[in-house]
Amino acid sequence: MKKRIAVLAGDGIGPEIVPAAIKVLEAVGTKCGHSFDFVSAAVGGQAIDDTGWPLPDDTLNLAKTSDAVLLGAVGGPKWEGLDYERRPERALLGLREMLGLFANLRPAKLYSELADASTLKREVIDGIDVLVVRELTGGIYFGKPKGVEATATGHRGFNTEVYTTEEITRIAKIAFEAARKRRKLVHSIDKANVLESSELWRKVVIEVHKGYPDVELRHMYVDNCAMQLIRNPKQFDVIVTTNLFGDILSDEAAMLTGSIGMLPSASVGAKVGMYEPIHGSAPDIAGKDMANPIGMIASGAMMLRYSFDLGKEADLIENAIQKILAQGYRTKDIEAPGTKLVGTKDMGELILKQLGQS
Ligand code: IPM
Ligand code: MG
Repeated sequence: MKKRIAVLAGDGIGPEIVPAAIKVLEAVGTKCGHSFDFVSAAVGGQAIDDTGWPLPDDTLNLAKTSDAVLLGAVGGPKWEGLDYERRPERALLGLREMLGLFANLRPAKLYSELADASTLKREVIDGIDVLVVRELTGGIYFGKPKGVEATATGHRGFNTEVYTTEEITRIAKIAFEAARKRRKLVHSIDKANVLESSELWRKVVIEVHKGYPDVELRHMYVDNCAMQLIRNPKQFDVIVTTNLFGDILSDEAAMLTGSIGMLPSASVGAKVGMYEPIHGSAPDIAGKDMANPIGMIASGAMMLRYSFDLGKEADLIENAIQKILAQGYRTKDIEAPGTKLVGTKDMGELILKQLGQS
């Protein structure tokens, strides 16, 4: 198989973790007879510095014409004062929108070796395996009207939460399909006791569920879900929710696994999928060889699985990660007494070496 992958390393720790993922993908390619062609372009703050815009046309065109996009992270204090339209984060939103990536899959699975790195008790989290299916191109992130306008006494800032039947239907289908391959349970998270958009959300999810009688559907209000994720996370299999609720709940679910640095994500729904770790650019530790590259490397595995249908190759990467953790190697974010502390580069090299041995 021959594929072209757009590499958008971005800002902060992005350029430190992306090379590790590329090396791992190249090694898997060599091992299994695939050739991956990596083409880099500027995105986020890095692109603002070069061109004045967070998502230059060349970068968007490269993404559109590649087979998949691998993204590091965007953003940092340097660009925080800019107008909204020029902020690094707009690049992410633009890519999601322009590529039509309406479904964001964020698996939060605990590597048992890391149970003690979590702030929760081992018995609460051991064995958790949650998939957050977040709607990614709708809701309050994109709804109109939006803006900040002057009033007689100050200003008013506003955004609009909008969901259509079509948008809810397609994300619900993704969740039910995913649940079919897992434990066959979907929790749909909304705020239907207050919001009209959630009232429609719930109605449509119930309708779509009629096509999936083998999957169980439960509804939960978002505030309760935030609490239940801490109280008893093992009750969840697939969580399907809106853009904003999914943003918040996926960070919460990530922390159950010990560190947000561990978790990958896939944004899918159209021809070109985009794969990125769920953490941000972590400017506080950038350039210090401290970042955990595992979320990035695991995002590469998700790319193989979802965009290229290379499940076995993805397993190779995930198993190598697991073995290195089992051998006691840890980056700073998941360090624990009795483990071996390594930096970003060494963690990448260890996983690479492990891959060579499997
Ligand atoms: C995420 C991030 C983004 C989001 C930001 C950086 C725009 O928090 O991918 O979860 O809110 O979607
Ligand atoms: Mg987020």
